[in-house]
Amino acid sequence: MASDRRNFAVNGYSLSICPHPGPMSTAETLVKGHADLAEVALPDFSSEVYKDAYSRINAIVIEGEQEAHDNYIAIGTLIPDQADELAKLARMELKHMKGFTACGNNLGVQADMAFAKTFFTPLHDNFQKALAAGNVTTCLLIQAILIEAFAISAYHIYIPVSDPFARRITEGVVKDEYTHLNYGQEWLKANLESVREELEQANRENLPLVRRMLEQVADDAAALHMDKEDLMADFMASYQEALTEIGFTSREIAKLATAALLG
Ligand SMILES: [Fe+2]
Ligand SMILES: [Fe+2]
Repeated sequence: MASDRRNFAVNGYSLSICPHPGPMSTAETLVKGHADLAEVALPDFSSEVYKDAYSRINAIVIEGEQEAHDNYIAIGTLIPDQADELAKLARMELKHMKGFTACGNNLGVQADMAFAKTFFTPLHDNFQKALAAGNVTTCLLIQAILIEAFAISAYHIYIPVSDPFARRITEGVVKDEYTHLNYGQEWLKANLESVREELEQANRENLPLVRRMLEQVADDAAALHMDKEDLMADFMASYQEALTEIGFTSREIAKLATAALLG
């Protein structure tokens, strides 16, 4: 896979674009994550620098899981015949939230929830706007594609440098996030012709927000030994694989991905 990727840099951002992304199964991706384990130096989990950064990263994760819960319940009001399925996904998100709360407690870190709320505000507001307008496509793109791909990439990069307690929890969570990403993919794929235009617009408005979120978190992530370029590249790979599954061509995907650089 890696040799197929085209790396390019624009405005200081290095992106990995896969022109013909083959399907990479959850298992393959997890194995790849494990293969990287030996190469990464572990941070000192008890240092003040680590704990300070963890108070914000952990809060972002907890807030993200809470928002994901609320978003799936909200999407269920737009697709009533899917409400039960979506409630199931929402319950998984609450379980994730509890798991990550335990990770913070285990390290003796108090999560900075006020910081995390502010961090999510732009994406949260766009979701609420789309929800109020009944734009289910935009809601699904924000939650089930962008936020899930963001979570999957962050958890991938975190697992090799996490403490043993958090690693066990995060490995379980990643598997669930693939289920959620898959849910969004399948719905959008089944409705692609009628949702294409709204998807492109929602991508233009929200992909740059995800890029900015990655930038905002870069310094704290670095303190946890998570590399910003790895985060961005893993996110773009997950996002592009999702777009391929939905039915976009590689040329359309390159155009959609370009929004990350322009917004
Ligand atoms: Fe989750
Ligand atoms: Fe999820």
